[in-house]
Amino acid sequence: MCGVIGYVGDAEAAPIIVKALRNLEYRGYDSAGIATLAFGRVWAEKDIGKLDQVCQTHQLDSLPGSTGIGHVRWATHGEVTPVNAHPHFDCKREIAVAHNGIIENYQELRTRLEHNHLFVSQTDTEVIPHLLEEFVDAGASLEEAVLKTTKLLRGSYAIVAVSLKDPGKVVASRKDSPLVVGRNDGKNFVSSDVLAFLEQTNRVAYLEDGETVVLTKDIVFLDAEGRQLQKEFREVDWKCDEATRQGYEFFMMKEIMEEPHAIRCAAMQDKRLLLEMAIGILRSRQVVLTACGTSRYAALVGRYLFSRLGGKFCDVIMASEFQYFSDSIDRNTLVIAISQSGETADVIEGVKRARANGATIYSLVNTVGSTLARMSERVLYLNCGPEIGVAATKTFMSQLTLLYMLAFTMANQMDEGLAKILDICPKIEKCFSKNSKKIWGLAQRTKGSNDFYYIARGINFAIAAEGALKMKEISYVHAEGMPAGELKHGTLALIDKGTPVVVICPKDYTYEETIANAHETKARGAFLIGVSEAANPIFDDWIEVPSVEEIFQPLVTVVPLQLLAYYSAVARDRDPDKPRNLAKSVTVK
Ligand code: AGP
Repeated sequence: MCGVIGYVGDAEAAPIIVKALRNLEYRGYDSAGIATLAFGRVWAEKDIGKLDQVCQTHQLDSLPGSTGIGHVRWATHGEVTPVNAHPHFDCKREIAVAHNGIIENYQELRTRLEHNHLFVSQTDTEVIPHLLEEFVDAGASLEEAVLKTTKLLRGSYAIVAVSLKDPGKVVASRKDSPLVVGRNDGKNFVSSDVLAFLEQTNRVAYLEDGETVVLTKDIVFLDAEGRQLQKEFREVDWKCDEATRQGYEFFMMKEIMEEPHAIRCAAMQDKRLLLEMAIGILRSRQVVLTACGTSRYAALVGRYLFSRLGGKFCDVIMASEFQYFSDSIDRNTLVIAISQSGETADVIEGVKRARANGATIYSLVNTVGSTLARMSERVLYLNCGPEIGVAATKTFMSQLTLLYMLAFTMANQMDEGLAKILDICPKIEKCFSKNSKKIWGLAQRTKGSNDFYYIARGINFAIAAEGALKMKEISYVHAEGMPAGELKHGTLALIDKGTPVVVICPKDYTYEETIANAHETKARGAFLIGVSEAANPIFDDWIEVPSVEEIFQPLVTVVPLQLLAYYSAVARDRDPDKPRNLAKSVTVK
């Protein structure tokens, strides 16, 4: 999703901003641009396409000046065209603005401004520089203009702005879209993502909704009324080499390989916090897990674990639908929100409404200091370092680990549970070495297939759904994951000669029934890929997974499915790290 960066410092701004944009590329984007201030003018270049391409065509990093802003755009309003790329300008091209989010009342504002302002793009963003222009022309400083402008905006925004009348200054403001401020000797930053400037500094402070920051050689925080705020800077413990590929062709493979380590890191939680949260779950009248995408599949596994180990039933509600259940969320409700980024707009919105109804919020988050973490009474961090690939892999494993830890603690078996989880890690490592070559072959063999089905029962149903999501997301192949028993209620009609059906069937109490469902597809000509510790003559291909206790199966069955999606993407010449149309952090609803 869009990424913004603002910089003021001693060094030339453009190379620093371009590097920051490169660090934001993983979020997904379709155009890029920067603006700097120098020699009494705004210097700006922007275009559609990959950053390298835009840099090469427009020599982005040679723009002069030590103050500037930059943006990578993921189109929402207005097509992917050079003119719609950010930054956007006022009529005199003295003010430049980059923006993440959506201005809901932009039509209304544009109609009002159009009679004396020249609009050139189709974006919602362009109203912002023109509003700033009105206030700056009336004598306001840039920060005063930003404060006045934001009062007129409805929707979500993280704005960064520069103005010729305020050289050496970047002003940024947020509502429902993240902004983090970084400070280093002589270099100040503001961005939607700490990874943008992590090489330069790990000392950060977060803006809350309605707050504004003024970067000069100093940093001043303001509330919505322009009163100064004191904020503490803290250190983020992510290392910048964690955000490099370290010899792997793609981040996704590196991140899959990091899974055993990620599990070990996630399992090491503060015991007291785990206990408090487990008690909170057991004592709540109703518990709702909410999340999107892969995080929601982790929640579905969690629901099973809470019931199986903790004897507690809870529901899982897709975050984008959560608001429609507000009527039954009250102060007796505990909401557990799961989000790798901690910035997913649907999750934040659902949690906001639940909080307003008096619910207690716990969250499982990877990004320290993210919006969700700050909205929660209690937070468990995944502690697995940054995940750059758009496809969630190691963070899924870490989310599962936290859910196991909570469930074992609910059952008063925290230490035992920890030991068992750590025991799984070497088995996952073996699973990589044993299966990688075979799965690559399978990806080659199924290269011509454009429909995949994944079936499983019990705790592995969520894994079937996750396997299908991974396949869709990075290979652009239609895939569906479902409980094996559901097949005959409709989907079976789609099974044809050679259709790949992935059957996740560990040798447990679900085995016989799942195999029976697999037979139903085989009878229609399906190409069966078994994921099991046991071979079965009906499998056309068999991916062997280690034998583990039944409740731990998701940790071993998901690995080959991630690899199958990865190799299928590579075999089809797709970039698994940056799938089309998708973004790492989905900050719009
Ligand atoms: C997973 O591979 C996807 N990229 C996506 O479904 C993701 O899990 C979802 O957008 C939720 O993100 P979050 O965990 O950051 O909230």
